[in-house]
Amino acid sequence: MTSPLVLAIFQYIGPNGTIGSAWQHPDDTSADFTSLQHWIRLAKKFEEARLDFLFFADSYGFPAMDGELIPASVREGRGIPHGDPMPVISALAAATERLGFVVTASTTVEPPAANARRFATLDHFTEGRIGWNIVTGSSGATAAALMGKPLIPHDERYDMADDYVDLSLKLWEGSWDDDALVRDKAAGVYADPEKVRVIHHDGPYFRADGLLNMPPSKQRTPLLVQAGTSGRGMEFAGKHAEAVFVAGGDPERVARNIQGIRDAAVAAGREPDSIKVLVGALFLAGATSEQARATHEEMLAMSTPEGAAAIFAGNTGVDLLALDPDKPLTQQSTELGLSNLQRYLGRDGKPAPLVRDIIEDFRVTGINGSVFVGTGEDVVDQVEEFVRITGADGFLIQPHMTPGTYDDFIEHVLPVLRARGLARSEYEGDTLRERLFPEGTAHLPASHPGAAYRTAPVGA
Ligand SMILES: Cc1cc2nc3c(=O)[nH]c(=O)nc-3n(C[C@H](O)[C@H](O)[C@H](O)COP(=O)(O)O)c2cc1C
Repeated sequence: MTSPLVLAIFQYIGPNGTIGSAWQHPDDTSADFTSLQHWIRLAKKFEEARLDFLFFADSYGFPAMDGELIPASVREGRGIPHGDPMPVISALAAATERLGFVVTASTTVEPPAANARRFATLDHFTEGRIGWNIVTGSSGATAAALMGKPLIPHDERYDMADDYVDLSLKLWEGSWDDDALVRDKAAGVYADPEKVRVIHHDGPYFRADGLLNMPPSKQRTPLLVQAGTSGRGMEFAGKHAEAVFVAGGDPERVARNIQGIRDAAVAAGREPDSIKVLVGALFLAGATSEQARATHEEMLAMSTPEGAAAIFAGNTGVDLLALDPDKPLTQQSTELGLSNLQRYLGRDGKPAPLVRDIIEDFRVTGINGSVFVGTGEDVVDQVEEFVRITGADGFLIQPHMTPGTYDDFIEHVLPVLRARGLARSEYEGDTLRERLFPEGTAHLPASHPGAAYRTAPVGA
């Protein structure tokens, strides 16, 4: 049976371009990212099209080698500048009614209690439409240096993230009972002191004795999302995530990653389908194949090897331009982002690609993989095949031209997806969690580790 895909938009507060620097195109508006009106216009467009949510990627890091700026990154607007998405969410929540929002926050930057309170407040202001993309931080070295901290080794960052999320769950689920809020003006009772409590956490990395100082919101815990498919990342996702963002590209590799995530959920005592896996993909659609192909070629013309290498270096710490172009990568591991390095190591008996081929592949496919090009019918044929092979639950639609790529998706692709039962025409579910899991409730399901921190039964 065909089920509708989860369809969401990938954005960040900066000049856009997933592959190449689209901001430089005369029709592109993404260089207006400092304008609130720019975001309001986009959010309204996405809601009108009934897309599920708008995701803001984020990082305090920037493309650098050994802490120094990479000139191509500054010149081409690739990874620099990059603003904080949190402040825009309230404005977008006010301008829309149903669109969901997912925001990245790294577990290596702010103390868990500060992050938990901000998401609890946003869950109120969005009326249950917020999700948290939990990352341990791409471009981790520059982010750590900016905060005056040492770079924590890759797998230990995930140990910390486990502890960080554990503490956050105690705050969200354990501080207030569902019926703690009384708000009886006549009796002068705001809340019942018997039903509000201090939580205690003494973990390997974080400690807290205190209160989530906000009454329960619709979802209590924001929808928990994770991105990054290293082995340790998947183990983390298996335990905590309700949705995972993975890079696209070779369908066999994506299928393995998705299976790995579902296996990790099972290993953590959860159902394999308790996690929705969304694949980052670009959709370049046109009224004719020629038009779509021309858009693709125009996009590639805005993508330089230097810009691609800068993004790769920022993510993995590996400077491809400094390596022998005729040899494969010798570095097999990194304390920065592993997923994009692992992509180019030989496996399953296949030889590893040469550095010159890696640069070219990264220049034309970018950081997150799949590119679907063609008419609406062509693109949906490709999507159907990709979903059949990979078992993906949906897509994160990456930016190329803003707003042109989205307009083309809405005009050409969405009607075909709908005609084939692959996209919803109307919003279902009140909260973001119910949007992704219509059979569930606004709260974390009983199978999630967060449910153990409830002091009283929550939800239906
Ligand atoms: C679609 C998608 C979105 C992502 N968004 C972010 C993000 O906003 N911030 C971030 O630090 N990492 C993000 N990542 C993850 C990084 O690319 C990188 O994989 C991760 O930070 C390093 O973890 P890993 O070593 O487990 O891969 C995203 C990945 C994908 C596939």
